[in-house]
Amino acid sequence: MTTTDVEIEDAAAVLRAGGLVAFPTETVYGLGADAANPNALDRLYRVKGRPKDHPVILHVASAAQLEELAEDVPDIAHTLARACWPGPLTLVVRRRAGRVADAATGGRPTVGIRVPDHPVALALLDAFGGGVAAPSANRFGKVSPTTAAHVRSDLGSDVDRVLDGGPARVGVESTIVDVTGAAPVVLRLGGVSEAQLAALAGRTLSRLMHGEVAAPGTLPSHYAPNARVVVVEAGAVDVTVASLRDSGQRVAAIAAPADAEEYARALYGLLRDADTDDVDVIVAPEPSSTDGIGAAITDRLRRAASR
Ligand code: TXA
Ligand code: MG
Repeated sequence: MTTTDVEIEDAAAVLRAGGLVAFPTETVYGLGADAANPNALDRLYRVKGRPKDHPVILHVASAAQLEELAEDVPDIAHTLARACWPGPLTLVVRRRAGRVADAATGGRPTVGIRVPDHPVALALLDAFGGGVAAPSANRFGKVSPTTAAHVRSDLGSDVDRVLDGGPARVGVESTIVDVTGAAPVVLRLGGVSEAQLAALAGRTLSRLMHGEVAAPGTLPSHYAPNARVVVVEAGAVDVTVASLRDSGQRVAAIAAPADAEEYARALYGLLRDADTDDVDVIVAPEPSSTDGIGAAITDRLRRAASR
């Protein structure tokens, strides 16, 4: 589980040569490519199976790189970055011409940037120097990986290196905030809560989580196992399992931890474990709290359940 300096240098060299490196972050594992290399990005999109017009998040080693990759960065972006980076927050800002390849942003004038809070990710980004484009290291539309083993089983030999940093600490993806408009807007719930954002911004942020922002993590059906997912109140799991079995379905139930942070950490692994060939339906309980990380769990369960 420990990553050596030699492995980090080797992985940075693979990125420089246009290769793909999966690496741990505090949220989920990312599939990294040089954000300034269109050929590397082309391969990233092919391996990921992702439509070309869907932008990826750029990962950088420090907040100082925000000004290098973006322009017209508003004060609120600096405030949020100072408070939350390294950490599970992605800021959508205006991209600086010539510094970010078109292919990384789906041709958009904006780019999502974050500094991940994981020593292996930070060492890799530091050794590489530039921005690393990294979507979650799973095939498009499927459940995100929270361990190196998940990455290997999803991507096999399509990825050049997999750095193992242990199980992800947060377990769901970063919160995304768009700061390119008159007021900041939440595009995806995640590791930074809306209450934290409100405290930092001095106001409640509005949410825009579906509709015109045609981007993968915001599609209604995403983060989805092969089996159908049914989400119920925690107290209704057993009765739901029984009635589905009565109707002849093969059912697995998610044994969710009561603590919401633990549930978030375990969520994708539990969904993956339950999603076997001999299961038709997965019954998943709602989290005990719909605040904070509980809101992100509720959001992911809803998307896993819709198809
Ligand atoms: O926690 C995370 O954010 C993980 C780890 C690896 O850092 N990454 C991740 O990336 O979840 P991905 O590609 O699976 O999700 C990228 C999301 C998309 O849902 C899209 O909505 C948003 O980022 N995004 C990226 N750039 C954007 C932009 N310019 N405008 C709007 N949304 C953007
Ligand atoms: Mg993803």
